[in-house]
Amino acid sequence: MSMKRVLSGIQPTSDSFHLGNYLGAVKQWVALQEGHDAFYAIVDLHALTIETEPALLRKRTLASAAQLIALGISPDRSTLFVQSQVPQHNQLGWLMECMAGFGEANRMTQFKDKSSKSGADSARVGLFTYPMLQAADILLYQADLVPVGEDQRQHIELTRDLAGRFNTRYGQTFKVPDGYILKTAAKINDLQEPTAKMSKSSGSAAGVIEIMDAPEVNAKKIKSSMTDAGSEVRFDEKDKPGIANLLTIHSALSGTPIATLEGEFAGKGYGDFKSAVAEVVVEYLRPIRAKALELLEDEKHLIDLLHEGAAKARSVASGTLENAYRNLGTVA
Ligand code: TYM
Repeated sequence: MSMKRVLSGIQPTSDSFHLGNYLGAVKQWVALQEGHDAFYAIVDLHALTIETEPALLRKRTLASAAQLIALGISPDRSTLFVQSQVPQHNQLGWLMECMAGFGEANRMTQFKDKSSKSGADSARVGLFTYPMLQAADILLYQADLVPVGEDQRQHIELTRDLAGRFNTRYGQTFKVPDGYILKTAAKINDLQEPTAKMSKSSGSAAGVIEIMDAPEVNAKKIKSSMTDAGSEVRFDEKDKPGIANLLTIHSALSGTPIATLEGEFAGKGYGDFKSAVAEVVVEYLRPIRAKALELLEDEKHLIDLLHEGAAKARSVASGTLENAYRNLGTVA
């Protein structure tokens, strides 16, 4: 039996990924490399939906590749590539735009959230059509599984709907994929505002643990994270969202179950617990940051790896696109 396909993507919109990106998504990408045929895309075209600087886009795309490899994505085992190097994404994206209803696209909560920041009138059209390009990213590879954080659930549902609609109308063309969203760690929250998700576009950098930040900076952010009422270290998302978030982070990185951590810190205060979380995070990220910085010293090598990935991606994507065009009745 052939291996199941996995596809996921991440935007190169900042100098560093944050701990939410890692625990919610990339950690699962690494695990799924084993026993699956995995495709991972740095989705630079999606990053154009907000204002970008050419030099920054280039730097962040390479930094994304270096971080993904440092976090454990193996370019030998997985197909790691840059979306803009595989033109079939735009081509199938258009077909998906022609499958989706305006009202359906208008219900996407990420569009509503993001466009409300700039005002809907100045939001880019690309921000609106973004989920249809994402559907194309997934469907081109006939993916079985799409490992993502909770915030992407609605986009995966849309992808399933579009695939099903196309198949019904034009004949079997796309695999209908399943989301792969963990129960724990699918939403890591901001350290200063622990009821909101940790985000690249967060108002305050103090709430975001960045993989490329210096260890002291991250330790300080954790030690000065928002303090909940009370003094007991207990997992209670409603009354103690800050402590619950730190317990999730500690547990995901150390592998210690949350109940064990609660027992370990019984009778100790928040201060001791925060110091322990800071230690776990800092020691986990230290070698990853060092490895990413080392990889960034040889840009040519990184670019070569990405070219190899794109060549493999194009060979799969072109087959799916040809099939889709043929089923639609275009003249070849
Ligand atoms: P992006 O670049 O915003 O985020 C990358 C991944 O990180 C997850 N994530 C989180 N998980 C837990 N807690 C958080 N605080 C947190 N913040 C982010 C996201 O869910 C995501 O899995 N639209 C996608 C990129 C994309 C894509 C695709 C994903 C484009 N094409 C095809 C899958 C398949 C996005 O903006 O992710």
